[in-house]
Amino acid sequence: MPALRVLLSAEQIHNRIAELGAEIDRDYAEGEPVYLIGVLKGAFIFLADLARAMKTQVRIEFIGISSYGKAKTTSGQVQLTKDLDVPIEGHHVILVEDILDTGITLSYLAMLMTQRKPKSLRIATLLDKPERRRTPVKVDYVGFRIPDEFVIGYGLDYAEDYRNLKDVCVLGEP
Ligand code: PRP
Repeated sequence: MPALRVLLSAEQIHNRIAELGAEIDRDYAEGEPVYLIGVLKGAFIFLADLARAMKTQVRIEFIGISSYGKAKTTSGQVQLTKDLDVPIEGHHVILVEDILDTGITLSYLAMLMTQRKPKSLRIATLLDKPERRRTPVKVDYVGFRIPDEFVIGYGLDYAEDYRNLKDVCVLGEP
């Protein structure tokens, strides 16, 4: 079992998401529903907590994407593994991600969503590793900017393990 170091505790994450939820509520005060589109799989826990931190009416959708496979770094190739079940034309949309790394995934998804003519499109990510960016992405809601370390937990995996850790942890060497 490799060593784990807590980078962001469950309490820190909870408190920051409460702030993000309040910020989003202020931005969407007009009363229309907001489609939260979770990017599978990593965003499922953040999406669940963010939705409950918001008072705005939300609708929950998921899109599936994969670029990492079992590796620790992106392959650079984005693969759509599950499309949306509903059209988003004319609706407010927030893409919800667990982590923004090279930006390849979110820039692709932002382009794909824009083609579907939402009323507005914003991006929320729990974690941002700005040092790693290869493709610029405009993000509207960021939980935490973190250094370039491999993180797991709170939805994030290493080879599909560790997603259920309550904290975001750095995975050490075995
Ligand atoms: C992770 C993460 C983002 C993407 C970010 O997904 O959830 O979708 O990588 O990296 P990028 O900015 O370099 O594109 P991953 O492919 O590991 O799939 P998962 O969410 O199913 O774990």
